[in-house]
Amino acid sequence: MKLVRTVEDLQKELKKAGHEQGPGFVPTMGALHQGHLSLVKQAVAENKAVVVSIFVNPTQFNDPKDLERYPRTLEADLALLEPTGCSIVFAPAVHEIYPEKDTRKFNFGDLEKVMEGKFRPGHFNGVAQVVSRLFEMVRPAKAYFGLKDFQQLAIIKNMVKQLQLPVEIVPCAIVREPGGLAMSSRNELLTREQRENAVAISRTLFKAKELRGQKNVRELAEWVTSEVNNNPFLEVEYFAIVDDEQLQPVKSWDDNSIKVGCIAVYCGKIRLIDNIVF
Ligand code: PAJ
Repeated sequence: MKLVRTVEDLQKELKKAGHEQGPGFVPTMGALHQGHLSLVKQAVAENKAVVVSIFVNPTQFNDPKDLERYPRTLEADLALLEPTGCSIVFAPAVHEIYPEKDTRKFNFGDLEKVMEGKFRPGHFNGVAQVVSRLFEMVRPAKAYFGLKDFQQLAIIKNMVKQLQLPVEIVPCAIVREPGGLAMSSRNELLTREQRENAVAISRTLFKAKELRGQKNVRELAEWVTSEVNNNPFLEVEYFAIVDDEQLQPVKSWDDNSIKVGCIAVYCGKIRLIDNIVF
């Protein structure tokens, strides 16, 4: 496994790897956990060479405090990546990715008007900026994204279509802690007590899936919100039941679309997201 810091070194290593199709690619912001590693393992199984990027992308943080407190644990990340069989770790400085300010404005239409797009203005524009640049640098044949960030996955697919990039986007299942909490780098920022209480988020989503037959969409959405809010450690920012393609709120269970319940919750200052397919 090679650690590279610059685009130039990345390209040298990619050339050495000598694959014709382009590598598998897993973009991350580091502070790696088993969720990230499941993507890396799948990529290693499906590609001759795999690049993992570790880059805390400033342009996607709408809250400067969130950017400042985001965990950075490169040594531990490398130790976790070493046994996976990944070939190249690309951990660039900010000026490598953004030698100049990136002023590109993407348009994702209705996709970015709901949920994360609505509550984190500019977030997905920053995600599209960094992922499109990383794709340009790595030129992957396949890139792996977690379903934990359900809306991000839809945005990336849309971006690939708009820019007509020759990359296959591979969605990967959510990895959870034994208690059900979706793994997240931000979980590291929770106190033990907060972490124990955050389990109520996934527990409520699982229960909601069971209750689907008994409540209409509005009733179920209200039930989820009040159930999570009943926990004094948690405050729901939104819970929305949306279709899995356009991510627009659905009004009833009746149409043929696949429905996904997406939630964002504050646990103290830490913002957590999760979702469940109904
Ligand atoms: P980050 O939050 O580090 O996540 C990197 C990838 O790991 C994303 O595709 C995310 O969906 C996936 N992931 C995180 N937790 C997961 C879990 N519990 N189960 C399955 N997959 C999980 O998402 C980002 O970074 C950034 O926005 C990025 C795409 C790298 C652009 O900066």
